[in-house]
Amino acid sequence: MRVWAVANQKGGVGKTTTSIALAGLLADAGKRVVVVDLDPHGSMTSYFGHNPDTLEHSSFDLFLHKGSVPEGLPGQLLLPTSHDNISLLPSSTALATLERQSPGQSGLGLVIAKSLAQLWQDFDYAIIDSPPLLGVLMVNALAASQQLVIPVQTEYLAVKGLERMVSTLAMVNRSRKQALPFHIVPTLFDRRTQASMGTLRVLRDSYPENIWQGYIPVDTRLRDASRAGLTPSQFDGKSRGVTAYRALLKQLLTHNAAAQVA
Ligand SMILES: Nc1ncnc2c1ncn2[C@@H]1O[C@H](COP(=O)(O)OP(=O)(O)OP(=O)(O)O)[C@@H](O)[C@H]1O
Ligand SMILES: [Mg+2]
Repeated sequence: MRVWAVANQKGGVGKTTTSIALAGLLADAGKRVVVVDLDPHGSMTSYFGHNPDTLEHSSFDLFLHKGSVPEGLPGQLLLPTSHDNISLLPSSTALATLERQSPGQSGLGLVIAKSLAQLWQDFDYAIIDSPPLLGVLMVNALAASQQLVIPVQTEYLAVKGLERMVSTLAMVNRSRKQALPFHIVPTLFDRRTQASMGTLRVLRDSYPENIWQGYIPVDTRLRDASRAGLTPSQFDGKSRGVTAYRALLKQLLTHNAAAQVA
């Protein structure tokens, strides 16, 4: 199983959309995908028609055993989605109680890594949607992953948020054996605005090694897909947004293959 996290400390940059778009494309290609919602707001859980406010069982259950994960529990928590090849490990609002804990002190930093280890045979890919806050949950997402996708909205304030995310990553890398490879993905790009063009230029100049050379355009079909509860490619496989996500996926898979060979 390959595990990818999608994270950025800034809110509203396209994390959930990116997670679901990539999961959908992998699933269309016949891969078995588990999507993990670690955001207490539960946008991904809601997207697939489950209510994070009323779910009795969720990824929160995994954190209730002092850092160990009971055999079989992760599999029992999975819910179906609109796509036969995608299972959801849902969020619930209870996760918010963990969010502000210090990961070092609580000993809960590897709960998701341990949980996914139990699902290793059942899925080809895991994609983790993270909350916009550095705490136990984001640390779990980064610790479990082999590759990180950082969506960045192409507007001026976003660059500051990205700097924060990159320094968080540097901190997390100190406790990993290998640095986590990351890809910056410009999102919500509107070529008619100066902010989008200017920010894209700054991102490309500042992070030449880590930036994906494409961008995800503003595309209302992505919003429509979320309203319909379908992955973007199920909703409209030819839309501009999906075309861009397909190109991104290709890049991530190339990097994946290179990392495996190395
Ligand atoms: N490329 C896009 N074009 C148009 N709308 C988009 C695009 N990407 C995301 N959106 C919309 O923007 C909103 C925020 O996107 P999303 O929920 O993916 O961001 P997020 O980073 O996960 O937010 P949060 O930090 O709140 O979890 C959603 O309504 C989504 O449908
Ligand atoms: Mg989100």
